[in-house]
Amino acid sequence: MRLAIEQAEQVKGSTYPNPPVGAVILDSDGQIAGVGGTQPVGGPHAEVMALRAAGDRAKGGTAVVTLEPCNHHGRTPPCVDALLASGISAVTFAVSDPNPAAEGGAQRLAEAGVTVSAGVLAGEVEKGPLREWLHKQRTGLPHVTWKFATSVDGRSAAADGSSQWITSEAARADVHRKRAAADAIVVGTGTVFVDDPTLTARRADGSLTSHQPLRVVVGMREVSPDAKVLNDDSHTMLIRTHDPHEVMRSLGDRTDVLLEGGPTLAGAFLRAGVVNRILAYVAPILLGGPITAVDDIGVPSITHAQRWGFDGITAIGPDVRLSLVPN
Ligand SMILES: NC(=O)c1ccc[n+]([C@@H]2O[C@H](COP(=O)([O-])OP(=O)(O)OC[C@H]3O[C@@H](n4cnc5c(N)ncnc54)[C@H](OP(=O)(O)O)[C@@H]3O)[C@@H](O)[C@H]2O)c1
Repeated sequence: MRLAIEQAEQVKGSTYPNPPVGAVILDSDGQIAGVGGTQPVGGPHAEVMALRAAGDRAKGGTAVVTLEPCNHHGRTPPCVDALLASGISAVTFAVSDPNPAAEGGAQRLAEAGVTVSAGVLAGEVEKGPLREWLHKQRTGLPHVTWKFATSVDGRSAAADGSSQWITSEAARADVHRKRAAADAIVVGTGTVFVDDPTLTARRADGSLTSHQPLRVVVGMREVSPDAKVLNDDSHTMLIRTHDPHEVMRSLGDRTDVLLEGGPTLAGAFLRAGVVNRILAYVAPILLGGPITAVDDIGVPSITHAQRWGFDGITAIGPDVRLSLVPN
C-alpha cells in the first residue's frame, strides 16, 4: 500500500477532476508485477495501468489500491470490470469511494468471489494523496492550504518587506512539489507588488514542471502588465474583491488550492473560516519587526484563539514543516 501511495503522490495534480490514485499488482507469489497511477482525464485509471504492466501475472494475484475500485462507466469503463477480467483473486484498498455514482466496487468484486479487504492504511491515504479530493467530495468546496514561510519569531518578512528567502532551498523545493500538485495558487496584490513572484512550480534546475497551477491575484489595485505573475508560464486570474468567499466561488471547480498570500490575505481567509490546512515552514532565524505572518483574524482575547492541532512535523534541511488541521 505504501508503494501504491507513492504512485498516487506522483500523479497528484495531473488527474483533475479524477482522484489521484495509485495501484500495485502482486502476482500469486506475492511479488510486485505492476504499478500504476491515474492518468490525465480520459486516460486509464490506476488499476488499469498497473494491470497492463502486470500482464498475465495478475491472474491469481492481489491488487492493492489506494481507493475502492470504481464500478461506474465514466469516460473509461469500470475498473472492477478490468480487475475481474484479469483473473485477480484478491483486492485490498485503503479508502471507500464516497462518490455515490462510483461506489459499489467492493461489493461487486466480493460477489464475484474476489477476496476484498478495505481500510488498509486508510489514515495515511486520507491525510496524503486523497486529502484534497476527499474534502471536495464531502463538502463540495475546494480544499485550501495556507502555506507560509516564517522566522521562528513569527515574522513573514523583514522590516523593509523583503522575504526572499526566509527558508532554505530544501524547504522551497518542497513548496514547489506542493505547487506542482495544486490546482491554484492564491496571493493578494500586496505580495505581487513587493515580491513580484512568478508563482510557478519549478524543478531544482529552474525548469517548469509539466503541470502548472492557475495563478490567482486578489485585490482592487491594478497589476502591472510587466508583473511576472502575468507571464506566459501559466494562466492567471485577477479577482477584484476582498471577500474570501467570492474567491472560493470563483475557484469552485478546483480541488487543491494553495493560499500563498501575505499577512493581509491570510488573515482574511482565516477570519472567514475557509482554511482547511496550514503548512508553516519555520526557519531558525529571527527577524523581529512589524511584519507578522498573519494580520488580525478577529481574535480579541486568548479564550477566542483559533485552536488547531498538528498532524505532521517534518524536518526539511535546517527548517521544520508544521502541518496543522482545525481542532
Ligand atoms: N513569508 C511568506 O510566506 C510570505 C508570503 C507572501 C507574502 N509575504 C510578504 O508579505 C508582504 C506583503 O503583505 P500583504 O499583506 O500586503 O500581502 P497580501 O496579503 O498578499 O496582499 C494584500 C492585498 O490584498 C488585497 N486584499 C485582498 N483581500 C483583502 C481583504 N480581505 N482585506 C484587505 N485587503 C485584501 C489588498 O489589495 P488591494 O488594495 O489591491 O485591494 C491588500 O492590500 C511582503 O513583504 C511579502 O514579502 C510573505
